[in-house]
Order: sequence, then C-alpha cells, then structure tokens
Amino acid sequence: MKRTILIAEDEEKMRRILEVNLQDQYHVLLAKDGAEALEQFKENEINLLLTDLRMPGKDGLSLLHDVKRLRPEVPVILITAYGTIESAISAMKEGATDYLLKPIKMEEVERVIQRALLQADLLDENRKLKEEIKSFYGIDTLISKHPKMIEIMGMIQQIADSKATVLIEGESGTGKELVARAIHFNSQRGGFPFIVVNSSAIPRELLESELFGYEKGAFTGAMRRKIGSFELAHRGTLFLDEIGEMPKELQVKVLRAMEGYRFMRVGGTEEIDVDVRFITATHRDLKEAVEAGEFREDLYYRLHVISIKLPPLRERKEDIPLLVSHFIEKHKREVKDRPLEISEKALTVLINYGWPGNVRELENCILRAMLLARSSRIETEDLPEEVRGEGGRETFVVPKTNEELRRVKWQLKRRVEEEVEEAFLKEALKRNRGNITKAALDVGMDRRQFQNLIRKHRVVVKDFKGEASSHS
Ligand SMILES: Nc1ncnc2c1ncn2[C@@H]1O[C@H](COP(=O)(O)OP(=O)(O)OP(=O)(O)O)[C@@H](O)[C@H]1O
Ligand SMILES: [Mg+2]
Repeated sequence: MKRTILIAEDEEKMRRILEVNLQDQYHVLLAKDGAEALEQFKENEINLLLTDLRMPGKDGLSLLHDVKRLRPEVPVILITAYGTIESAISAMKEGATDYLLKPIKMEEVERVIQRALLQADLLDENRKLKEEIKSFYGIDTLISKHPKMIEIMGMIQQIADSKATVLIEGESGTGKELVARAIHFNSQRGGFPFIVVNSSAIPRELLESELFGYEKGAFTGAMRRKIGSFELAHRGTLFLDEIGEMPKELQVKVLRAMEGYRFMRVGGTEEIDVDVRFITATHRDLKEAVEAGEFREDLYYRLHVISIKLPPLRERKEDIPLLVSHFIEKHKREVKDRPLEISEKALTVLINYGWPGNVRELENCILRAMLLARSSRIETEDLPEEVRGEGGRETFVVPKTNEELRRVKWQLKRRVEEEVEEAFLKEALKRNRGNITKAALDVGMDRRQFQNLIRKHRVVVKDFKGEASSHS
C-alpha cells in the first residue's frame, strides 16, 4: 500500500516538481501554506510531512509544532534555504526527523524520505514491543485482592505519570521492585530505561562510580569513560533499591543530584543534566535510621514525597490461593509436564504458614514443589518441612488482634469445611459403590454438582467400586 506524504510548500513550481517526482511511489497531498497543511493533516492519515520552513502565514516551525502535538510519531522533514539553517537545527530539537537544503536534489529527497519512513516503522515496532513489556510487567501482574494492595494498585496508576519521588517500604520479598516496575511501565517513561542500583549489593567504594560514572583517568584503572546510572536512566526511571544501606558520605551527593537533576561524573568538570524519575525502596524503617543518625534527615524528606508501604504476606493471607495459581501459571513452562494443581490440604498448609520471606518465599516454594511433586498435583508432602511444620495440624496461633482473629477464624473454617466436604463425598461414594448417579441421588445433589466435588477433591471414583456398601 502506498504511504501518504503531505507536502507544504508555498512555491507553486516546487510543489509541482515534488509531486511529479514522488507520486509514483507515494500518495501525495499538497498544501500551499501551513494553515492548509494543518487542515489536511487533521483530515487524512498522513505518514510523513515534508514542509518548507518559510511560508506566508503559518510557517514550517509552527506547523511542525502542531503536528508533533497531534501525532508525535509522524516524521517531519523540513526544506530550508542556507540562510535559515539555524532554524532548521532548532527544528530538529523540536522533533523534526531531518532537513533538506535548497536547492534540493530529487535523489536526496527520496533518500531522506525513505530513511525517515523506515525509522518511523522501527520506532513503531519498538513502541509495540514496549507495550507488550508493559502489559507483562504492568499492573495486572501485581496479584492481590487485599484492600490495602488494591489501594496501592490504584495509587500506582494515579502517580505513574508524575515525576514525584516514590519511597517503597516493605519487608523482604513483599514486591517492592515489582511495584517500582509497575510505576515505570505505567508511566510515559515506560519506553525509556528502568535502571536499578542496589546499594546493599554493590561494594561501598564502587557505588559512587556506579551511580555517577567517571571520566577516563579519574583514578588508576579508569581506562575509559564510564556512564553511571543517573545518566543511563535519562528520560526513564532510576530505582535506588535498599537506599537505607547507602553509605552516609554518599547520601549528600545523591541528595544534591536528586534535587538539581544534575551531577558530575567522578573526575569530571562539567555538570550533566538529566531528566529522571526516582523511585527508592527499603526494607528498613528509614525514620528509625534517621533517629539513629544513620540516615540523613534531609534525604529522607526528599525521598518520601509519595510513600507506599507494602504489607507483609502474613497480613494478607487471602492472597495466598491467588498467588499460588499465579505462580503455577507463571512457571509452568519451566517445569514441563509437572503438576498444574495443588490439593486443598496443601493449600491450607500454605495459608497457615507465616511466610517470613513473603511473596518471594512463596514463589520459590511453589516452584520447588512443582519440580519435586510425586504425583500430578502438589500435595502436603511436596512442601518444605518448615512450611509443613508450622501449620496444617489442628493447632493455631492464638490471635493477638482483631484482624488476626478474623484471619485465623477464616482459615480454620476453611480447613474444617474442606475436610467435612471431602469426608462427606467419600462416604457417599462408599455407600453407593462408586456409582456417581446413585450417590448424587442419595445425598440430594444434582449429578453435575456432585461431579464437581469429585473433581475438586480429586477423589478416585474407581477406588470405591469394589467397596462394601453401608448395608454390609
Ligand atoms: N503481589 C504480587 N503478585 C505477583 N507476584 C509478586 C507479588 N509480589 C511479589 N511478587 C513476586 O515475588 C518476587 C519478589 O518480589 P520483589 O523482588 O518485587 O520483592 P522485593 O520486595 O523487592 O524483595 P527483596 O526485598 O527481597 O528485594 C518476584 O518474583 C515478584 O514478581
Ligand atoms: Mg528487591
């Protein structure tokens, strides 16, 4: 299909030349000034705009400006005379893709147009890819039905597009990085880098150059320039993980860079400006660290403009069944032909466990169980000892708060309900020698309902075929 090119040119002769030369390859639309071009642009599906810079009334720059606001992805090429090169260059900064110098040669025009269209195609492809990544890391992979978490998910969407710094607090494994990524990929910065620096994972003496980079020769061993994370994150997001572990002497520098959006490479002499959104995370209570004199108060205030506190998994146990199915789904490709189900009993054990390592520990536990399971579904025996040990028995931890009481009651109820149901089902099958229709009739359920129960509890019906009925 021919692409549509809009040509804005006030000189009649030039318009004709361009039209005649381009109309074989492209569908060409003509406008004699900026205003007319804008009209045409709004009414047609334009793939590229070729515009003269100087035109009476609305000129090329103003047209460029409007077009970029309407559809930033459409490439714009400017035609300019020698005297106006300066404005052509500033137009490039405004988003023009390229420019052509008068007198123009048709070969060059064609080449520049082709290149601009190719580039636009690549960008478009890239954007689509980024969209996919976005939906992969996006809000929908943050699984939870807990009110606090739902509130957080709403907040992520609300704040994504602002540049405000976000502090994410939560125990290890509660999903801090996942939240940071969700903010990034839901923002307009999503197509730009998401850079992670973990203060506790990088040796103290390397952290500064990791953050700010260095110039060649800044110190022995600095063989070439290194670009730091602040610079790599330009136009995107810098995620400073475990910010609570940042050495105090670096905290001042980081604060300064965060405040001014500018910094110097180590050994550098020139300040570098960046456009970065900061997200930080910590498993520590930063306020306490401030009080203990380990964390700068001014930096603390700079960080928690927006603060998100992720509740530990033990405070949102209703999420466990959801997360379990999510992780089974997530890892099913890695563990081919392994169980894609979990028994109610095993699930109950998982619900009863305390999860000190939070969601990360649960995820590892599920993955391991999928690998080790002896049958076609995950059973209690496939779970690690420490997980089995704590719950699963007829014991419970005495609740200390109303919320805990509610939770423990919910768990116990669930556990007992499952057990009663399973026993009921097995008894009915036993009485009716594994005849489903009869058993269903016997208990007063319709057959489909009864069959659903059998499926839910994974009862093997034929085991009951030979069994004695209740009359014997
Ligand atoms: N609500 C959730 N829904 C789905 N997956 C989650 C959720 N929370 C965490 N996860 C998963 O659990 C794992 C740990 O999460 P993440 O790395 O974000 O936690 P963290 O708080 O940064 O942990 P750490 O303190 O150990 O660095 C990841 O694989 C993440 O995808
Ligand atoms: Mg983390």
